[in-house]
Order: sequence, then C-alpha cells, then structure tokens
Amino acid sequence: MGNNVIVVANRLPVECHEADGAATWVRSPGGLVTALDSALSRHACTWIGWSGRACDEQSIAADLPTRIHECELIEVPLTAEEVASHYEGFCNATLWPLYHDAVAPVVYNRSSFETYEAVNRRFCDIVASEAPRGATIWVHDYQLQLLPQMLRRLRPDLRVGFFLHIPFPPPELFGRLPWRQQILNGVLGADAIGFQTADALENFLASVCNHTQASGADGFISVPGSADEPERTVTVGAFPISIDVEHIGALATDAATAELARQVRSDLGDPRTLLLGVDRLDYTKGIEVRLQAIVELFEDGSLNPYETVFLQIASPSRQNVEQYQRIREQVEGAIGRAVGDLSRLGTSPIQYLYQSMPSDDLVAFYMAADVMLVTPLRDGMNLVAKEYVAARIHDDGALVLSEFAGAARELRDAWLINPYDTDGTKRAILRAVRASKTEKARRMSAMRQAVVRHDVQRWSDEFLSILATTDRQEIIDLRERSGLPL
Ligand code: G6P
Repeated sequence: MGNNVIVVANRLPVECHEADGAATWVRSPGGLVTALDSALSRHACTWIGWSGRACDEQSIAADLPTRIHECELIEVPLTAEEVASHYEGFCNATLWPLYHDAVAPVVYNRSSFETYEAVNRRFCDIVASEAPRGATIWVHDYQLQLLPQMLRRLRPDLRVGFFLHIPFPPPELFGRLPWRQQILNGVLGADAIGFQTADALENFLASVCNHTQASGADGFISVPGSADEPERTVTVGAFPISIDVEHIGALATDAATAELARQVRSDLGDPRTLLLGVDRLDYTKGIEVRLQAIVELFEDGSLNPYETVFLQIASPSRQNVEQYQRIREQVEGAIGRAVGDLSRLGTSPIQYLYQSMPSDDLVAFYMAADVMLVTPLRDGMNLVAKEYVAARIHDDGALVLSEFAGAARELRDAWLINPYDTDGTKRAILRAVRASKTEKARRMSAMRQAVVRHDVQRWSDEFLSILATTDRQEIIDLRERSGLPL
C-alpha cells in the first residue's frame, strides 16, 4: 500500500543530466524543490513528477533513485513532443509570462493547451493508481492546474490540496487566457488552495467571480453543484512559503562554510564591498535592472571599481524557450559591455558565473556578500532573499529587495526598491552599501526574526492541517492561531 501523503509537482526533486551516454541525478532547479525537499525531509511520502528528460512513454528511467530521504519517487514520463509543447510551450511560454504580469510576450497556442491537458491527465492516472483510499494529495504549481478537478472526478475519496508557487495575475491579465474557465475550474477541484500572498489570493478570487459560477468570501469559496457533483466549499488562503532556517543556520556556523566564504572574497581580490545576485537566468528576475544601476554607480563615481565587486551567479534555465535565449543574450551582452568599460588588466568589478551552484555552497556566497541584490520585476516569493537573511547569523549584511517579490511582504526591513525606477534602485543600493553597522544590524535582526518565526516546516504544517480539516470553525480557529492572512 502506498503512502498517505502524495506530493505531485511537475518536477521530481532530482533531475536527470545526460552526457556521453551516461545519466547522473542532480538536485532539480528552483524554489519549489528547495522548499518542498526541506519540508518533506522528515515525512514518509511519495513524490510524483517528471525527471527533466524526455523519454518515450514506455521507457521509464530505470536508474531513477527510488527514494530521497523518506520520500518515494515516481516518474511521470514525458515524450520530447510533450516536453516541447507542455513544459516549454504552455507552461513556460504561456502561463509563466502571463502570471508574471506579462513582463515578456505571452504565446497563445491552441495545440499546446491540448498537450497541457493530456499531460495533466497522465499525472492524474498515475496519482490515482498510486494513492491509497482517502490519501492526501498535494498538487503544486502552474504546470498542474487541471489536476485537482481531474483527480476529484476520478477519485472523490482523496483529499486534494493545491499550492501556487508563482503570482496569480490581476484579473484583467488572466482574463486574456482563452482557457481561463478550464484553469479556474481545474484548480477549484481542490479542497484547499494556497497562494504565496494576499494579493495573489485576491486576484484569484476576482477571476473566479468573473469567469465561474463559484463565489468566495472570508477564506472560503462555495462551488455550486452539478448533476454529477454536490455543492462544495473550498478553503483558500495565503501561505507564504519559506526556507529551512535550521539547515542554513547550521551551515552558516560551520567552519568549512566560513572558510569557503573567506575563499570567495579572496578569489575576488578581497574587495571592500561585495555585491551579489543569485538567480535562475529568467526575464522575471530583473538581472538587467541591477546591472544597469550598478554600472551607472560605477560610471558616476558613486562606487569605486577598485574597491567594489558585483558578482552575478545565474543558473541556466529553460534554455529551449525563445524568451530565455533572448534574456541570456541581453544579460550577457550587457555584462560584456560593462566588463569592457570598467575593467583594468587582470581585474574586473563585474564578475559573472553562468552555472548551477550546489545549494549548500551558496550559503558561503551569502556569508561573503555585503549586499544582496534581489530585484525581480515580479516574483511569487523569492527564496534567495530569505536564504540570505537566514545565513547572516551575525545580523550583518544588507538586502536590497524588489517590492514586487512576494518576500517583500515579510521582509519590510530590506532596502525596498521599485525595479522600474533606476534612480531609486541606485539610491537604495548606495544606502545599503553605506549604512552604518547599527543600521544594518537593526534591519537584519528584524528580518531574521520574521524568517525564523516562519520557516518552511511551519509553512507545510499549516497548509496540511488546513487541508486535513473539514470543519469551517476549526479552519477559522487554525488560521487565527497561526496569524495567516485570509
Ligand atoms: C519556479 C517554479 C517551479 C519550477 C522552478 C524551476 O520556482 O515555481 O515550478 O520548477 O521555477 O523551473 P523549471 O522550469 O526548471 O522547473
């Protein structure tokens, strides 16, 4: 008999890298895996998802690890055509830009929605065949928004939760989607739906009201019945995701991490000030925004290029999607120009690494950096911001954070910026660089308290307890006790 908790996400926590006919398994990219992997590390569960490689439907990767921690892994095979049309197409050329305020053009393609449906159906069949009677199924993110309703129809005995890791767009943007009703009804098939922020929740409720028969108030949506299905109540709320504070704290106190941090600074020429950016190479992350601000600060003499280094670590992402190829060209073109203009023989104030970095090593970079720059144009949460704060165990360092990242709701003591305002961003960076020790300590300590109070374990416990509860008053009490916004 399978596990009673089944996590379903487009990606498994490991992805397959194939080179020279050999396959190796490495941790999958992105905040979803970072958070879930930590949250589930102490629970027996099953994780169903895709391995990151295309395979024909029969040939499930024989070498997929069967478990990670206490988690059994089950692969959903996707063909190369499905990867192109579902993952690269509908998920990352349609939904991703649309849900991020359409900061890049949105592709509307009818056949890719059909593949999205077919892939959601495949996930549904695999989950339904693995789930014991009455199991809890926790579905994650925009790649699987049809799955809750599909599961409810096939297996009404299951308790289904859905969590959206990215923003939910304002109704006037979401309303452009030709498949808006299918998506909303798909998500509404869940018993509990979670969003990162109260804004995302409000946007969702407005779209539900515009395009479906359901209506919501005070954290509940009532979904009218039909000939086949009774009327239901769905619980909705904002559950800001977080990080494994204990793990990052333990790494930050480890002598080996401190040594690595010293090494990083020394390799960079022991600058007086080290500014750092760490992102998937994605057009939502505003890498070009911070680069422009920093280059101008060097050019106008506010930052001294002989004493300051800006290091950008960008991990490769979705490299077959056109918009990602374009942003890579833009970012790397801008970096090349800046390096050409600002460097002296043998040294450069701008350093760039295009590679995935093991997450534990990143802690050393966080410890090395005087100022962390997190400047997305739109971001569901942004766990890098929270990780940086968790790594600054001595209450030093400074965080410059975009107002348009979900994390800005909790990290009010960061130097908050509007990434569309280059002058404002420059001012905030300079203030962060020049702030007194006392000022930095005051801000960092307040942010650390916020992150410590609400770590990833608490996030998953809160979501799962609300999902497990059917009594309305008990849900209201649970919410009040945990201080969750409606
Ligand atoms: C974000 C999304 C995740 C996604 C991750 C990495 O965090 O919310 O669903 O898995 O990015 O993106 P990728 O396309 O590589 O899975």
